[in-house]
Amino acid sequence: MAIQKIGVFTSGGDAPGMNAALRSVVRSAIHSGLQVAGIMRGYEGMIDGEIKDLDARSVGNIIQRGGTILKSARSEQFKTVEGRVKALEQLKKNNIDALVAIGGDGTFTGSKIFYEEHQFSVLGVPGTIDNDLYGTDYTIGFDTAINTAVSAIDKIRDTAMAHDRLFIIEVMGRDSGLIAIETGIASGAGSILIPEIESDTQAMLDNLQKSLAAKKLFRIIVVAEGDDSGGAYKIRELIEQQFHHFDIKVTILGHIQRGGNPTCHDRVLATRLGHAAVQALKAGKHSMMVGTINHQVVYTPFEEAISKTKTIPLDWAELATVLS
Ligand code: F6P
Repeated sequence: MAIQKIGVFTSGGDAPGMNAALRSVVRSAIHSGLQVAGIMRGYEGMIDGEIKDLDARSVGNIIQRGGTILKSARSEQFKTVEGRVKALEQLKKNNIDALVAIGGDGTFTGSKIFYEEHQFSVLGVPGTIDNDLYGTDYTIGFDTAINTAVSAIDKIRDTAMAHDRLFIIEVMGRDSGLIAIETGIASGAGSILIPEIESDTQAMLDNLQKSLAAKKLFRIIVVAEGDDSGGAYKIRELIEQQFHHFDIKVTILGHIQRGGNPTCHDRVLATRLGHAAVQALKAGKHSMMVGTINHQVVYTPFEEAISKTKTIPLDWAELATVLS
């Protein structure tokens, strides 16, 4: 039976550009003659029946806003069979035939199971600042997050330079080092430490030694929060054991990286992906994530998007050391 009404929700960690994706889904669906409902707080709101019909005006003036007007949540209930049955009942009550899920791998894992159990069609739009999903060159929010981090580090460089300080800057990425790699390179970091590779802290210390000999004016180390070294404070302890003359400061950038107005890149990406998700549902696709590879829209089964690992440019981290 042809789809008549779709539900859309945002789930997991919010990411700048989720609102732009929502706007695109709603307006593309309406343009195609479909009805749309917004589901609040991700799977939690689905289970609780927090669902409201949306029209084109409901998503006015949000393309530039960070966060998500639908709110987001990480749902424990949806991980249970009972929770998913409750969600299905609410979707039926609201005459929703298919879903667009804007989120990351946890969100898509739930959607995959939902189809297997109830044959309910879901199309995924990748929204996470981590950019850690296989099947797309970029996830929505990554570009904004790295630009936020870089502009913060630029400010830190000023004070690092003024006081000849060593700054250890921790960026987000529990399991992924892509934010650290790109912000580290763009900020002229001397060392970049990421979860994907066992951290060579000796190399980092050697690098600091060399920077002394080279009379570097200031030093920046970027570490991803999930790095096996234990994070920025642990690295500081390590450095203090060997070097006594560095004035070391730690900055944890934290959730500042998740907020703010999406960049042009994220708005365009979100708009393209939201539209493509609606087209795919209309064409009968399900259990897939829409992404772009080399600027072309591609569809990747949830199975692959969540189980395969994105190739990350490990050599870029090395490049940072060479150039610092
Ligand atoms: O997945 C996005 C992300 O920002 C990660 O980089 C980070 O580890 C995590 O979310 C933090 O999640 P929360 O805001 O729930 O603590």
